[in-house]
Amino acid sequence: KIIVLDFGSQYNQLITRRIREFGVYSELLSHKLTAQEIKAMNPKGIIFSGGPNSVYDDDAFKVDPEIFNLGIPVLGICYGMQLMSHLLPGGKVEAADNKEYGKATITIKGDNPVMFKDLPKEQTVWMSHGDLVTQAPEGFEVVATSANCPIASIANDEKKFYGLQFHPEVRNSEFGNDILRHFAFDVCGAQNNWSMDDFIDMQIAKIRETVGDKKVLLGLSGGVDSSVVGVLLHKAIGNQLTSIFVDHGLLRKGEADQVMDSLGGKFGLNIIQVDAKDRFLNKLAGVSDPEKKRKIIGNEFIRVFDDEAAKLDGIEFLAQGTLYTDIIESGTDTAQTIKSHHNVGGLPKDIQFQLIEPLNTLFKDEVRELGEKLGMPHELVWRQPFPGPGLGIRVIGEITEEKLQIVRDSDLILREEIAKHGLDKEIWQYFTVLPGIRSVGVMGDGRTYDYTVGIRAVTSIDGMTADFAQIPWDVLQEISVRIVNEVAHVNRVVYDITSKPPATIEWE
Ligand code: XMP
Repeated sequence: KIIVLDFGSQYNQLITRRIREFGVYSELLSHKLTAQEIKAMNPKGIIFSGGPNSVYDDDAFKVDPEIFNLGIPVLGICYGMQLMSHLLPGGKVEAADNKEYGKATITIKGDNPVMFKDLPKEQTVWMSHGDLVTQAPEGFEVVATSANCPIASIANDEKKFYGLQFHPEVRNSEFGNDILRHFAFDVCGAQNNWSMDDFIDMQIAKIRETVGDKKVLLGLSGGVDSSVVGVLLHKAIGNQLTSIFVDHGLLRKGEADQVMDSLGGKFGLNIIQVDAKDRFLNKLAGVSDPEKKRKIIGNEFIRVFDDEAAKLDGIEFLAQGTLYTDIIESGTDTAQTIKSHHNVGGLPKDIQFQLIEPLNTLFKDEVRELGEKLGMPHELVWRQPFPGPGLGIRVIGEITEEKLQIVRDSDLILREEIAKHGLDKEIWQYFTVLPGIRSVGVMGDGRTYDYTVGIRAVTSIDGMTADFAQIPWDVLQEISVRIVNEVAHVNRVVYDITSKPPATIEWE
């Protein structure tokens, strides 16, 4: 395996991810590990990640300098290269005249250096730094330069120490993956024999060791992440796991049954299904402000979960489907906080749970791969994103059971038609909304005065930006005809042709 020491870069887990994609096990570990602790792990290589500090900051993250005496290859990336140059004799780091953020072109020097083996002499890389190495340590050669960064990469082939001022793990570095690959295979001699199956075995062993014969509680939402955690934990500890599934009445048609049939039935999870529809609808009655609705739903969710958890005895652990992306956004040991992370926050003060988060080193698509490896059904693993507040934010304005029914029925028709025409893979998210507008129509011989249903369908990578999906007209026509004919109280269908930004994906 190759270990990555964490100096706080936003990209640090991406490095381990890239290495794992090569079939080499990699994990992100604290920079506080001692050389002895690292030696005991017997890694093939060590990578120092980037980080926000300057090596001269009082609180700069340090590393045990004995690491350089272990005889293990080291790759320093950005801050990692600066730290390496700072610690090894002869190296010098200084503040750059101009901080550099963004794309830069580097030129490779020398005779095909191992990290850049067989790669173009000029290539685009992603730079993000305030300091610079101005003198390479003794025994190092400068193997790449750029206009603003004369020492963009250094190499000491004898000791197998390498430094990159840019970020090879970021996709904007054109040949970044090849460079990391050279480090893993040509420098460290790692073998590509790791897969998601190993991850499952390792996590199961770890969960068993942590939990022992104690009990674990899981809040199931029916979404991908919590479902995968549920199946993984069940595999590890069987009925020591109890799951709570809160049906807030804002789920899509058939969703609650699907979760119960699949996870409770096929996979045998012990699930307490809580029917809290009335509780939620009562709290939401008369409320039309979107932010108020979201808060009410979020708070009520925690209350229902707490009420159920309080009925259980002897639970010591709480499992969560936290992903790596949730963690970087809320800040780790080293990473800066971008936004606070939602979790089951309001648990009663007298219940002290320890958290288990087996997915917290993974990205969403890795979780999907894990789910498939665990034998979970394709529809569950690949389901489109669904917001926590559910249909509550797709009924615009005040929520009533009648309006929820219209959204559920029209949404099911949309899902059926999208699947029937094979568009479910290319459209990232698709759903119907009920804006609450009523308009005049004519059906049979009579005038109608009924609701308008909106169709929202977008393509996106991560939900941060999105384009409206270009569903073919004939498919839209079929959907429209079916909705008007099959859903009571709807006489008009409109298609949302706005991208994000300026709109958002959901309407509230
Ligand atoms: P917006 O509407 O902000 O949505 O463009 C971006 C993505 O996030 C989903 N979404 C949520 N997911 N809790 C969630 O778990 C929420 O409160 C929430 N609000 C929006 C939305 O469905 C889209 O995929």
